[in-house]
Amino acid sequence: MIKIAPSLLASDFSNLREEVATISNADMLHLDVMDGHFVPNMSFGAQLIKAIRKYSDLIFDVHLMISHPIKYLDDFAKAGADIITFHVECEDNIKEVINKIKSHNIKCGIVLSPDTDVEASKEYIDDVDMVLLMSVYPGFGGQKFMPSTLDKVRKLKELIGDRDVLIEIDGGISEENIHLVKEAGVDVAVAGTSVFGKENREKAIEDLKK
Ligand code: DX5
Ligand code: ZN
Repeated sequence: MIKIAPSLLASDFSNLREEVATISNADMLHLDVMDGHFVPNMSFGAQLIKAIRKYSDLIFDVHLMISHPIKYLDDFAKAGADIITFHVECEDNIKEVINKIKSHNIKCGIVLSPDTDVEASKEYIDDVDMVLLMSVYPGFGGQKFMPSTLDKVRKLKELIGDRDVLIEIDGGISEENIHLVKEAGVDVAVAGTSVFGKENREKAIEDLKK
């Protein structure tokens, strides 16, 4: 069954403690960190993640949309991240970032923006636990799913072969397209608006899984 990772970005920031309690049937909590430099928006950092860590047992899937992840990895590790993903388009040395994440005993993933070819993940595929394909341009929630991502999922699946590497997809996932991403081979779907935008979050998660 496909795993669902609701994105906190779409939740009510004035009420985070209760918001995370509404998605306890999710598989992970997706946490979007934006620096206003790598992407044209700012969100939150390690301090906020640390604050909500006390109120959730979910796997914390931290998505770093920042130019220099290497500088902040210790903070996110200490804050309670279980998985850290960062962009191959960032300005740091990719292998160094991967090794530093792993040195904290945290799972590691690379992220590819919509214009980055799947080939860019090839040289790191043996070193990561997950590859995240963006199905929107990173920076904002509530955007429209880019169907061209489906081809990238299929290519990535072929590249991964029998390795133990998960495929995650992020952006514009809804009840209308989740069957397509599942068919293409996605293991984990991020869902912001389509979970936190609904009144009944548990049901929204169940509906996405169906
Ligand atoms: C976009 C973020 C996404 C976003 C998803 O930059 O990485 O995780 O919050 O939100 P929806 O599901 O609303 O597109
Ligand atoms: Zn994200």
